[in-house]
Amino acid sequence: MKLAVIGTGYVGLVSGVCFSDLGNDVTCVDKVNEKITMLRQGEVPIYEPGLKELIKKNTDAGRLQFTTDLSSAVKEAEIIILAVGTPSLPNGEANLTYIMEAAKEIALAVDGKKIIMTKSTVPVGTNEKIENLVRKHTAHPVAIASVPEFLREGSAIRDTLGPDRIVIGTENEAAQKKLIELHQPLTENILLTDVRSAEMIKYASNAFLATKISFINEIANICEKVGADVTRVAEGMGYDKRIGSSFLRAGIGYGGSCFPKDTQALIQIAGHVDYDFKLLKSVVEVNHDQRFNVIRKLETILGDLSGKTIAIWGLAFKPETDDVRDAPAFEIISSLLQRGALVKAYDPIATENFKKNLLHLDVTYCQTAEEAALHADALCVLTEWKEFQETSLTDIQSWLKTPNLIDGRNIYSEEQLAKTEFVYYSVGRPNMN
Ligand code: UGA
Repeated sequence: MKLAVIGTGYVGLVSGVCFSDLGNDVTCVDKVNEKITMLRQGEVPIYEPGLKELIKKNTDAGRLQFTTDLSSAVKEAEIIILAVGTPSLPNGEANLTYIMEAAKEIALAVDGKKIIMTKSTVPVGTNEKIENLVRKHTAHPVAIASVPEFLREGSAIRDTLGPDRIVIGTENEAAQKKLIELHQPLTENILLTDVRSAEMIKYASNAFLATKISFINEIANICEKVGADVTRVAEGMGYDKRIGSSFLRAGIGYGGSCFPKDTQALIQIAGHVDYDFKLLKSVVEVNHDQRFNVIRKLETILGDLSGKTIAIWGLAFKPETDDVRDAPAFEIISSLLQRGALVKAYDPIATENFKKNLLHLDVTYCQTAEEAALHADALCVLTEWKEFQETSLTDIQSWLKTPNLIDGRNIYSEEQLAKTEFVYYSVGRPNMN
């Protein structure tokens, strides 16, 4: 099939590349010239394992193109995938400016029968607005469908090529048939719904996963007080199929470009229909507070943090990505600086992105994990990079001035800690030192 993908962010680029890998003829469109130039040269604007290789494979095979010319790409395509960003407005609502602009441009370019399939996360009712806008600008038959995306950064290709389910929301039967055909090679698990339910499935799924994380974080906080081990608790809960074992890793709270934005947006969506989504509001509040446990633990060990050197390992919101959007590291580092601490930070790949977004100039960014830890009063692990898991605790101890370790992601085990002198705090596990 011939596809045009509008927007080469995470969702657009990964979907476009994966659809081309399935044998479709895909043109990825973006307004930003530099991005398209980079992609044409085989460079990838985001870090995602395996993506660069897959782009090369499919451009070499002549199935994948990049352009800034939306109009030509739309004219060529049978299906147009809308994957532009819907960032948060200051009040938490999704900003629909970009998606509406793109929809209008598509409508103006349409020259025959087309399907617009929205992958961007949009509030319930948005696809109807898109449809009305498109109808205003073209008389050609254009069907609208909501096909939400569930990929995770860091495992985006695996998630796209082997999804748990595909949700196709459309009231147009011909479009539904065509979209089933497009997605069938990916999974048999295709759920057909109306547009509004498909839009809601995306928000409800992210909100539920965020709820699981805040829930286990609160259980972890209680475990710390009653002397239980949250990793065993989560394991024991996870064997129950009704609960499931995933997204029960306690830590310093969720970050990233999706959960924080989508939970706020769903609270707003509910608010617009006079529904007070109390549970989700608490999930957000718990998540915010969880970050500061790192500071509270540091103060328990070191007292006043003023003048103390704190090493930070991990700036990305999770491993295998250079994305720092809403990463817990921002608030943790800012609050250390406010308390007069000196911060030395290291991340295997996210440092440049972090620097651009943190306005404090007084963080020392290090080239290696060792350099950050050297002579520090304490080390805080904020992202569970494999590199950190694999570093010997004996080495870490020899680098630090005093062996104080706050493990915000529970990456070290009791065995690793044996024979060390660490004052060690993790999340929801009994004292192991
Ligand atoms: C999330 C969803 O998992 C995807 O299904 C969805 O498509 C995507 O948002 C989106 O809406 O675009 P992503 O933000 O890439 O994907 O990352 P996750 O792996 O879900 O992690 C989100 C955050 O939760 C991270 O900060 C991670 O550290 C945290 N987390 C995750 C925990 O603290 N504990 C867990 O058990 C799992």
